[in-house]
Amino acid sequence: MPAISAKAPGKIILFGEHAVVYGQPAIAVPVTQVQARAMIMAEPRLPAGSVRIQAPDIGLESWLTDLPEHNPLAMVIHQVFAKIGIDRPPALTVRIASTIPVASGLGSGAAVSVAVIRGLADFLGHRLTDEEVCALAYEVEKVHHGTPSGIDNTVIAFARPIFFQRKPEGNQIETFKVAKPFLIAVGDSGVNSPTVLTVGDVRSAWKADRERYEYLFAQVGALVQSARQAIESGTNNRLGPWMDQNHALLTEIGVSSPELERLVAAARQAGALGAKLSGGGRGGNMIALVTTETAEPVCQALRQAGANNTILTTIQ
Ligand code: PMV
Repeated sequence: MPAISAKAPGKIILFGEHAVVYGQPAIAVPVTQVQARAMIMAEPRLPAGSVRIQAPDIGLESWLTDLPEHNPLAMVIHQVFAKIGIDRPPALTVRIASTIPVASGLGSGAAVSVAVIRGLADFLGHRLTDEEVCALAYEVEKVHHGTPSGIDNTVIAFARPIFFQRKPEGNQIETFKVAKPFLIAVGDSGVNSPTVLTVGDVRSAWKADRERYEYLFAQVGALVQSARQAIESGTNNRLGPWMDQNHALLTEIGVSSPELERLVAAARQAGALGAKLSGGGRGGNMIALVTTETAEPVCQALRQAGANNTILTTIQ
């Protein structure tokens, strides 16, 4: 059986993080400059049922049976076997490699899950739909992120710009047209900030003052709706001031940090049309709307202001 390889992109949230957990819409886009890759190889010399996992980036080499039940890779693999209805898989190795920085808001965990789900299912002769891949990846996100909205696994499974809204009757997931491509610079603050912590802190703050937080979330939601219209109609420059406003709201929500503030200010000073933190906050990444002329100066300014990595990505 030939080896099968599957990949999944990173992602950024353009508008709406945190408020999305409370039912407001959000917009997320794939970042193809970074990716997770899973390779599945048959091991005809090993007995059936032997599943080996290799993730050299994180120094992991293990048999599936030796991993704890809640290990994310073990969970993903068991989920695929259960979905396909396989008790005893053919002997195989799952090898994982990823260029997506971890715990920085680029969706590394969800991307690894999606790549493994796709690769393993294909290897076992089952082509899963994007919806099925998304649902399986969400099960793993739930265990590791507390109360995830589901936006990460969704944008990564669909690998297209998405408008996402959590709803009790089932999430609204819409892929939508980008009328005119635009450029986003991503700056990594280098501060490791697990999303589960910021999401938990926002929940405590919301519980203490629901009225204020609901008001902040509603303002974020209104920006998301406007942003979608601008992206669909190609009036991209309007996004800049809305990114600034979304950032100000996230600061009020309590998830900015001195490092992120420094990067956002540096991007604006170097000519970005707007800038905001992206993802869970308190660390991780920020994003800036740039043009072909301002892209390089903004990336340079971000590095000078302390970004340990920058990525330039075209949203299309
Ligand atoms: O995974 P991150 O850091 O991009 O954050 C996800 C966005 C949040 O809205 C903060 C949480 C969620 O589950 O939607």
